[in-house]
Amino acid sequence: MALQPWETLKESITVYTGLSPTTFLTVVALGLAIYCVVSGMFGSSSNHHQRSRDFEEEMQPLPPPVQLGEISEEELKAYDGSDPKKPLLMAIKGQIYDVSQSRMFYGPGGPYALFAGKDASRALAKMSFEDKDLNGDLSGLGVFELEALQDWEYKFMSKYVKVGTIKTVPVTDGSTTAEPASTTEGDVAKSAEDGSSDSAAAEAKESTTGGEADKE
Ligand code: HEM
Repeated sequence: MALQPWETLKESITVYTGLSPTTFLTVVALGLAIYCVVSGMFGSSSNHHQRSRDFEEEMQPLPPPVQLGEISEEELKAYDGSDPKKPLLMAIKGQIYDVSQSRMFYGPGGPYALFAGKDASRALAKMSFEDKDLNGDLSGLGVFELEALQDWEYKFMSKYVKVGTIKTVPVTDGSTTAEPASTTEGDVAKSAEDGSSDSAAAEAKESTTGGEADKE
């Protein structure tokens, strides 16, 4: 008598699923086992709390950008991310931006860490990671390179806060090794002839060696 409900159940399983009761129960057990394994992978709730705490620690709000005014290229190097207490800075065309929010790009170990603490204009214009291009020298750049640089500048202007400018070294006498401004102008003029946009050429002229302004 007590076996009757079990027999009925077995019959219903066969009728409704087309499976033998043993197969059906095996499938159910496997399903449960998979559920346990998968939910275990996402951790218990205490694990979850631990993880969100770690995440919060990583997501500490960044200190607001500090305006530095004019600093030298040498001083800028101190902001290359090696000191985690200092903001991460990078310059384009002599304009310094606080890129701390993109530590994953520019911080130590990041793909663009080599730009941090530097004016990376030449490298960005040429899409180069070479040491010789990790500077703000725009001389000899072609029209497309200047345009590319302009795009980078717009991106930085819209994404990051500008916190200062790079002090240009005054040219005191003719014996210095500073780039003659005329060379740069010539290059820019050549770019303009090639069909460069006036603004790119003007930009470049304005922000290359800076020797012109300093001479006056
Ligand atoms: C195979 C070549 C490259 C690939 C696949 C690549 C890919 C990327 C990606 C996916 C991003 C993130 C974009 C975002 O989320 O806003 C990025 C950002 C960036 N890339 Fe590249 N990149 C390449 C080459 C270069 C080169 C040659 C340069 C310059 C020399 C460069 C400079 C940058 C810079 C400066 C950023 C960060 C911009 C920011 O601060 O928002 N990349 N790149």
